[in-house]
Amino acid sequence: EGLVASGGALAGLHVVVTSGPTHEAIDPVRYIANRSSGKQGHAIAAAAASAGARVTLIAGPVALADPPGCEVIHVENARDMLAAVEAAPPADIFIGAAAVADWRVEAASDKMKKENGGAPSLALVENPDILARVAQGKNRPRLVVGFAAETRDVLRHAQEKLARKGCDLIVANDVGAGSGVFGGDSNEAHLVSRTGVESWPRLSKKEVAARLVARLAQIFHGEAV
Ligand code: CTP
Ligand code: CA
Repeated sequence: EGLVASGGALAGLHVVVTSGPTHEAIDPVRYIANRSSGKQGHAIAAAAASAGARVTLIAGPVALADPPGCEVIHVENARDMLAAVEAAPPADIFIGAAAVADWRVEAASDKMKKENGGAPSLALVENPDILARVAQGKNRPRLVVGFAAETRDVLRHAQEKLARKGCDLIVANDVGAGSGVFGGDSNEAHLVSRTGVESWPRLSKKEVAARLVARLAQIFHGEAV
């Protein structure tokens, strides 16, 4: 209510969040996608809104309701997600929680048919890196946060991504076999910055979202990362 909106930890700030997978069409009936339920990204958008931020959530195809208090823009593929990010009003904080498909297919306009003989091979082209574009673009948000889902050498890969993309923080998690992160309701996150790593215990995705929002508010308002 009014109290939260005017006095929350992120009051007065515009937060842009990407969430969910992207679907890249192979033909009109098939697509390539990453595994992502969108639960973590949507929870972050909801937590930021509860903290008083104005939130724009740019969501890939997910089976989730739009979180309360957010302006939600639904997109299908990586290029549309990038366009929606670029069309949003300038952000104070950008959080790239989407599992963006790294490659797309030069899509066929008609459905591919088996009777055409043999298995088709797909020519893939790389998608734009939305997080890197935001972090390196003009009108850079003051805080740019990425995610890294890794199956090995989690922290090393997260440090590399942080440097390569130019973001301020990477929320890294181990999605190796048995982690239960994909589609599940909990997450074991490591907050990786240029100055160090803060490892959190296994928490629900809602708790991860609330903690992340609280940390971002602290960082934004001048405390060290
Ligand atoms: N990301 C993005 N656009 C892409 C690919 C990734 O915005 N085309 C963002 C994700 O939303 C995430 C971060 O970059 O915040 C890291 O994504 P990840 O897939 O782990 O990194 P990649 O650079 O794609 O490296 P790889 O998949 O090879 O590990
Ligand atoms: Ca990737």
